[in-house]
Amino acid sequence: MNKLVIGAQWGDEGKGKIVDILAKESDIIVRYQGGSNAGHTVCVGDKTFILHLIPSGILHKDKICVIGNGVVIDPKSFFKEKATLEKVGVDIQDRLLISEKAHLVMPYHKELDAMQEGKLGDNKIGTTKRGIGPCYVDKYARNGIRICDLTDEKTLKEKITKNVEEVNKLCDIYSMNRFDAEAIFDEYKEYAELLKPYIRNTVYYLNGVFKNRKKILFEGAQGSLLDIDFGTYPFVTSSNPTVGGVFAGTGLPHKALDSVIGVMKAYTTRVGNGPFPSELLDDMGESIRKKGSEFGATTGRPRRCGWLDLVVVKYAAMISGIDSIAMTKIDVLDGLDRINVCVGYEYEGRKIGFIPSQLDEFAKCKPVYKTFEGWENTKHSESFEDLPENAKKYVEFIEKFLSIPVSLISTGAKRSETIIR
Ligand code: IMP
Repeated sequence: MNKLVIGAQWGDEGKGKIVDILAKESDIIVRYQGGSNAGHTVCVGDKTFILHLIPSGILHKDKICVIGNGVVIDPKSFFKEKATLEKVGVDIQDRLLISEKAHLVMPYHKELDAMQEGKLGDNKIGTTKRGIGPCYVDKYARNGIRICDLTDEKTLKEKITKNVEEVNKLCDIYSMNRFDAEAIFDEYKEYAELLKPYIRNTVYYLNGVFKNRKKILFEGAQGSLLDIDFGTYPFVTSSNPTVGGVFAGTGLPHKALDSVIGVMKAYTTRVGNGPFPSELLDDMGESIRKKGSEFGATTGRPRRCGWLDLVVVKYAAMISGIDSIAMTKIDVLDGLDRINVCVGYEYEGRKIGFIPSQLDEFAKCKPVYKTFEGWENTKHSESFEDLPENAKKYVEFIEKFLSIPVSLISTGAKRSETIIR
């Protein structure tokens, strides 16, 4: 059974923990999109790991991890992560494969990301400034530099020189420091040597393991509402975290996916700008942020917090065909008197149950709430039956609204704080 774990909101749903749990019963864990903009937090014992580029499955020492062709790779960030893992005894040698078709994030992508954000002023996207957008722009403009280009110095040099020439024209316009193609070439030549043991034609590799019935777990990054096509454009990332991204980002056929698990927080958060109808700008939002430690795993930015928006989750479920929900951080809502859930929007005096494509229309949507009585403590519940009555009602309502079972409930960061139904 091959499974996909995707975020059903705006990212940061707690996918890292769910992947970590499911990785145990998988053979191969695959990232298919995004890059080091992701921040997947996994707690193992008293240690906390934050992974950005390397699949979270790497923490299981007998698993193979693959960075697929749809991912954009910043070698600097990759080697930093590798070193951090090795320091705590997690060796990635012989267990990590990088697609030769994956595109490389270059130093100028990061600077362009920052420059473009600066130019947008108050309308900025709020990117992670990891160069993700500009790297995908080069990919689609067919100027990208791929991992396989690292194996041929001549091609690498030519491509870097050509791209830097173009980038430097922009640097002049926007008063940025120019880039030195020679210095970038030297840096990437070194990476080429260091990356060699990991580079593979992962399209053939993955199709081979699929044929041999190995269990594959696809690890989505970001969230459905950050999808370049289906998210709240332009306040989105530059890849497809939703189900289609799996096939484009790995080279596996649709038959290679058996089940989709949507990860959803018991409330909603968002980093960066863009409409967020159920956002709480009051003390309640602040208290959820504090209790849920809602600060970006990649940038440290405070996350915007709000009530659970089921219109959002239902939309994500529709697009990716979510089969079951993993609900995280229910404990963060412990101790509240009342809990709201957004079940629709009010738009210009009428109730709607969908997300308008026009962003200014979505920005005008007011949440329509259903209110639930709170509960005391979910922290030590070991089964669904153990949960406080009102917490059970909350979960059951979500299942009914979505027509999808909530098959996993996370009551804390530790592996042990998980209810599997
Ligand atoms: P970018 O992916 O860095 O270009 O950022 C685009 C948008 O996606 C911004 O709103 C980011 O905050 C958001 N974003 C990117 N990666 C993540 C993530 O892993 N979790 C949550 N938000 C993210």
